[in-house]
Amino acid sequence: RHDPLVLGIETSCDETGIGIVRGRTLLSNTIASSMDEHARYGGVVPEVAARAHLEALQPAIEAALAEAQVSLADVDAVAVTSGPGLAGALMVGVGAAKALAVSLDRPLYAVNHLVGHIAADILDAGAPPLEYPTVALLVSGGHTSLLLVRDLTTDVELLGETVDDAAGEAFDKVARLLRLPYPGGPEIDRAAATGDPTAIRFPRGLSRASDMAAHRYDFSFSGLKTAVARWTEQTRAAGQEVPVADVAASFREAVVDVLVTKALAACEAYGVPRLLLGGGVIANRRLRDVALERAGAAGVAVRIPPLSLCTDNGAMIAALASELIMSGRRPSTLAFGADSTLPV
Ligand code: KG4
Ligand code: ZN
Repeated sequence: RHDPLVLGIETSCDETGIGIVRGRTLLSNTIASSMDEHARYGGVVPEVAARAHLEALQPAIEAALAEAQVSLADVDAVAVTSGPGLAGALMVGVGAAKALAVSLDRPLYAVNHLVGHIAADILDAGAPPLEYPTVALLVSGGHTSLLLVRDLTTDVELLGETVDDAAGEAFDKVARLLRLPYPGGPEIDRAAATGDPTAIRFPRGLSRASDMAAHRYDFSFSGLKTAVARWTEQTRAAGQEVPVADVAASFREAVVDVLVTKALAACEAYGVPRLLLGGGVIANRRLRDVALERAGAAGVAVRIPPLSLCTDNGAMIAALASELIMSGRRPSTLAFGADSTLPV
């Protein structure tokens, strides 16, 4: 028996991701993004994203097959993100995956997007196998979640998630306040490079010791965003220029501080000396540096997959399904739909 060749489809947000893996080996990872179409709105527009997926899917599948040097007939199983994410966007991927599985007469695996982010780690060819248990911090424009992974295919527990904005969303909104373009994360990162992170003390939501002591690992970034809005408004009202670099650096520091503090608090509380990072916000240099530095001091080993596997992609979805197949899990029936709030 050979390792399964799995084609994964990811359409939960604005990236149309098609990935092909054989067992734990990455063969291709094709991504078409509709980000440019959302730029003028300052955030992802669900209807626009869904239409873009419909147009991008077929060419993305063909490109992924070509890159992997396989044909559709070689595919052993189809995998798709069934949630969480934007309902309309998810539906396009789920519909395509069902059509593909039925027409090829192959098993279909519906998987959870967040668990998929964790599975991305398996495809990191240079890294030793993922050890359990591990805490995972997933941070993107759509989610900010802290998970305890005892086993990728059977036991993933949600420890906390954002109660309002995702961290990436906060970057995007604050960039807007600072009159920087979308997406805001890279822009704020760039502006922050010359700023003073201690210039303004912005609030760290839900990160009092008492929050953690009560085993609450939820995040909140809307208070921080409001604080930045108030600060910039007052500065402009006083006829002064907003010190963009200092605001960006101080804001970024607040986000990074909260993310790392809570992730390491969970590692300590559960006695887990391993932390896996994922999601598009991991592109943030400061987040990676602070996580590595503070985790090192706490004796926690940090894993960061290559960035192309951290942002939304189809390969992580295929990788998760491949693990499910190799652990003997039965495929999904065709009865599932898209679930925008699918729990882990
Ligand atoms: O995972 P991703 O590509 O797509 C989803 O949101 O699902 O993440 C995109 C998010 C955006 O909010 C973007 O502003 C943020 O990640 N981001 C960053 C950086 N690069 C991208 N945030 C902070 N610092 C960065 N360098
Ligand atoms: Zn994601």
